[in-house]
Amino acid sequence: MTRTETNPWLNRFAVFAALNTVVLIAIGGLVTSKEAGMAVPDWPTTYGYNMFFFPIRLWNGGIFYEHTHRLFASWVGFLTVILFGWLMARESRGWLRKLGGLALFLVILQGVLGGLRVVLYRDQIGILHAALAQSFLALLASIALFTSGLWPRIAPAGVPVRVRNWMIAGTGLLFLQLLLGATLRHAHAGLAIPDFPLAYGHLWPATDPESLQRINQAHADVTITAFQIQVHMAHRIGALLVLGVSLWITSRVVRALGTGSLFARGVLGWQGLVLAQALLGASTVWTGKAADIATLHVVVGASCLVVAVLLTLVAARLSHARPMRFETSGPRGARRVQGAGAPSLQPTHPVATPSAQS
Ligand code: HEM
Ligand code: HEM
Repeated sequence: MTRTETNPWLNRFAVFAALNTVVLIAIGGLVTSKEAGMAVPDWPTTYGYNMFFFPIRLWNGGIFYEHTHRLFASWVGFLTVILFGWLMARESRGWLRKLGGLALFLVILQGVLGGLRVVLYRDQIGILHAALAQSFLALLASIALFTSGLWPRIAPAGVPVRVRNWMIAGTGLLFLQLLLGATLRHAHAGLAIPDFPLAYGHLWPATDPESLQRINQAHADVTITAFQIQVHMAHRIGALLVLGVSLWITSRVVRALGTGSLFARGVLGWQGLVLAQALLGASTVWTGKAADIATLHVVVGASCLVVAVLLTLVAARLSHARPMRFETSGPRGARRVQGAGAPSLQPTHPVATPSAQS
């Protein structure tokens, strides 16, 4: 069987697997939002049944969300096995076949973590499970990018290496913010501070024993701890940092590359997602953690990370070490990058000192 770099159907399949994973993250997010994680107390069985034969008449309440999540996770696992097999059979780039192997490993690990979350009843495992879900999605999306016809056409275009470095920093910061969000969610601290943008009417809430006692007198059902308030505040500060850094990156990219290139438009789209994510975070608090809003906050958070990873990969390729000034990149190079009628990935105006910026 011949292995090549261009497999349009393999690429479509990778996109399909990534989109299914977005749906799976939404279902998983609903499980947590609806507090249905323990609705099915056993694993890998479901109330003693083989999970694929669990009678539909018993899919009630929280069981519906948790069981649907397990079934859909099996479906995504199945898609990942096919993706891996297809890459092994038809993909000529060895490193990409290895990424397929990594995806297979991660999906199995994710399934085991999900099961352990139930069997060991540990919220900490929920945090790992949430973070791994988003990393797995980013990996599938990267495989989809690498197998696309676009990837080989993105030639080094003299984009300053610092653009790639900004994107790496933005992606890293986003990932930390996702980790804080997952900690906040699994520490049940989403409403540890019930107002926004202030916190208990102040810029910084008091967490001394007397203040905590006063806060908890108003809550008969739950006890709010200093840790929950601090994690919640850390996530708010993280949001400010993410917003500040992403706005700075976007303004610098637009200043350096203009707005005509596909890359700069991608960065602008990413910025829009990050702004929507901050609004969704605020709405999560304002609505008292409405399940659909909190779940949307998880899904858009995953999308912010995925787009950041893809833009980082594209920026790395555009700024690749081979020096190439825009003015001097020949018509053949220009044709390869721009494609027929597609917007250019290259900057619309020359950057001052393209390759010496690293
Ligand atoms: C590819 C596989 C899987 C992916 C991508 C995935 C993804 C997710 C996501 C995104 C969440 C929400 C986390 C959050 O909102 O913070 C979640 C929750 C959950 N998942 Fe999975 N999951 C997978 C497989 C499984 C499996 C096989 C189980 C088996 C029991 C499972 C059990 C759970 C449970 C119990 C929760 C709720 C956790 C909690 O509320 O603390 N997951 N999953
Ligand atoms: C752009 C910045 C933000 C990012 C990237 C972000 C990301 C996230 C993510 C990914 C989660 C869930 C993690 C998981 O379990 O999988 C989360 C949870 C949460 N975020 Fe944000 N967030 C941002 C801004 C905000 C803001 C401004 C607020 C306002 C207070 C906020 C409030 C919350 C709350 C309350 C939760 C927990 C919801 C629950 O317990 O169900 N977020 N965040």
